[in-house]
Amino acid sequence: MKKFFIQTFGCQMNVYDGQRIAAMLASRGMTETSDVSDADIIILNTCAVRAKATDKVFSALGRIRRAKKTDALFGIVGCVAREAGADAFRRIPELNFVLGPQSYHKLPALLENPDSKLLNIDLGGLEKFDDLPRMSRSPAVAYIPIQEGCNHCCTYCIVPYTRGREISRPFDDVIQDCKHAAETGAIEICFLGQNVNGYKYTDREGRTFRLSDLIRAVAPLPAVKRIRFTSSYPTEMTDDLIDMFRTEPKLLPFLNMPIQSGSPDVLTRMNRPYDLNLYIDIVDKLRRARPDIQISSDFIVGFPGETDSDFEQTVDIAKRIKYINSYSFKYSPRPHTAAAVMQNQIPENIKAQRLAELDAALNELQRTFNESCINSVLECLYEGPDKTGRHMVYRTPYMQQCIVAGNPDNAKPIAGIRITAANKASLRGEFAD
Ligand code: SAH
Ligand code: F3S
Repeated sequence: MKKFFIQTFGCQMNVYDGQRIAAMLASRGMTETSDVSDADIIILNTCAVRAKATDKVFSALGRIRRAKKTDALFGIVGCVAREAGADAFRRIPELNFVLGPQSYHKLPALLENPDSKLLNIDLGGLEKFDDLPRMSRSPAVAYIPIQEGCNHCCTYCIVPYTRGREISRPFDDVIQDCKHAAETGAIEICFLGQNVNGYKYTDREGRTFRLSDLIRAVAPLPAVKRIRFTSSYPTEMTDDLIDMFRTEPKLLPFLNMPIQSGSPDVLTRMNRPYDLNLYIDIVDKLRRARPDIQISSDFIVGFPGETDSDFEQTVDIAKRIKYINSYSFKYSPRPHTAAAVMQNQIPENIKAQRLAELDAALNELQRTFNESCINSVLECLYEGPDKTGRHMVYRTPYMQQCIVAGNPDNAKPIAGIRITAANKASLRGEFAD
């Protein structure tokens, strides 16, 4: 029996793509192996969002090319495939395939004709969502992609190049996927998209569906206890969607809505042309709709031309909004982006210094929030045993990790947990009943 090895880097969308590729190969009678040297087909499912992510892929490729069986098929799929294109074959001549994020369903063609080289980095199709086999068992959290690509074109971001323009999947297809997931074990549905709240699908009768319609349609499924979505663009947080936080208790009180910077000048140069007051208004509306809501953000420090005072405004806004669970990155110049050729690139040491300062502020906010959870009861979803195998790891509605002492064999899939202790990284708790 043929064996495949797949390694996934990067975002949740890639994790989803990786699961689909694995299911596709399994349905052709192949089994998965974690040993590269034993595999007949080796796939790296890649991320290109920062230079470091791309570098990681090429160093993994270098290692694998020495470890693999000589006749194993070997290639990359995803964003680095799209970023590098034919150049990937020049850098690593042993590669057999280079398939962009919307072309991995072409992989079986190569299995039929293994002596050829396959390059396909086309965009613009939802084809990959068709024909791929369904997974027979869903994990407790089902990630359901609803749209792909992004029309925003932030000047630092390679995603519009690698994933293309926004395309929304048909409403009925998404609902079918959710039902299938719920019937096969999903407790939480997480809608995915690069610009998830930009979801907009118009059917043949001319009816238009938005993300709020998807939430409303999925919430009545009895097996589904929690719903969330990621990642949101601030100005597409429309009133119908904000209202869902008021009316739909299954929608978790947690939202990732990246602000990136607290400086109006930097935001303008990032081509994120929203007014900070508008962003703050949206947060206020969300808090009125759902008083216990918490917001998380992504931040970039050291964007070209960022001054000390621009940076201080970022720290200020983080403290003002009181973000939790946030991500922060040093700006990384990427090919195919406008910011990469801007003047006044910031030296690495200043980026590092600013990142450390922002992270200290974000960690402090996280610790404060985590401590505020002590004594409350949160409904948490079981994730699995901890590293020792002796304790249970749960996920709170705010995506905090919560450790519950006790044998994982006794874990309940979803449970009320009283929080007993907290630090900046995680919580501890016990079953409330
Ligand atoms: N909305 C998208 C976000 C894409 S990338 C999605 O969910 O797929 C995720 C985050 O990476 C961005 O929010 C941004 O903070 C960061 N990022 C993107 N391009 C970057 C770059 N060139 N350098 C540093 N960080 C970057
Ligand atoms: Fe990237 Fe901006 Fe879209 S961060 S994915 S271009 S909203």
